[in-house]
Amino acid sequence: MSRAQSRAYGEGASPLIVPYEASPLHFTSIFGNDHPVTVEIGFGMGGATASLARTNPEKNYLGIEVFKAGIGKLLWEIRKQGLSNIRIMEHDAVEVLEHSIPAQSLGALHIFFPDPWPKKRHQKRRLIQGPFAELMASRLRAGAYLYVVSDWEDYAKKTLELLSALPELENPYPGFAEPLEWRPRTKFEKKGLEKNHRVYEIYLRKRKGI
Ligand SMILES: C[S@@+](CC[C@H](N)C(=O)[O-])C[C@H]1O[C@@H](n2cnc3c(N)ncnc32)[C@H](O)[C@@H]1O
Repeated sequence: MSRAQSRAYGEGASPLIVPYEASPLHFTSIFGNDHPVTVEIGFGMGGATASLARTNPEKNYLGIEVFKAGIGKLLWEIRKQGLSNIRIMEHDAVEVLEHSIPAQSLGALHIFFPDPWPKKRHQKRRLIQGPFAELMASRLRAGAYLYVVSDWEDYAKKTLELLSALPELENPYPGFAEPLEWRPRTKFEKKGLEKNHRVYEIYLRKRKGI
């Protein structure tokens, strides 16, 4: 962690960090308004989070990350840019989704470049697997979207297959989505692009009336 990030992080005591508790969060009290909430899992250094929050002040962003240097960096950006619509949880996203995010509460869920775990024997560590896919879908409101981006072909294909099989989600695209021009490039993405990786976009919506 750089000195600025470490100062911003301040032993995790920032009021912008929401402590993990195994009980449902009350978003209106956390953000001080009832704007729709986007959860971003694994924001890394938080560049995309800060950029989206700046351009969408009418939305709230809850970033979930376990990487301290990234949390410090995002806290520093929030202060530098004077952003009031971001909160952070420093905890495992699976537990947060399961215990802290109420069912049918989110306007959107972003996962940009989840750890690819390319080796066959490590693939069970991948974040997006069957039960977690169902959990994610259950946290979205009707009409909300789930947006996953990866530069790892087999992970992206499996994720698309898994999510497309969920009856409560619908895919407005025939398969992978067109690149959405509003999505900022992330740090991890830039590294992949330097190695000529292809980027796969997955964008599904929660059906209404389910
Ligand atoms: C490959 S990095 C991508 C970071 C960023 N989204 C980007 O594109 O630059 C994946 C991030 O997910 C975080 N992560 C992985 N598993 C997580 C989990 N279970 N809960 C919270 N964060 C997680 C890691 O700490 C890491 O920062």
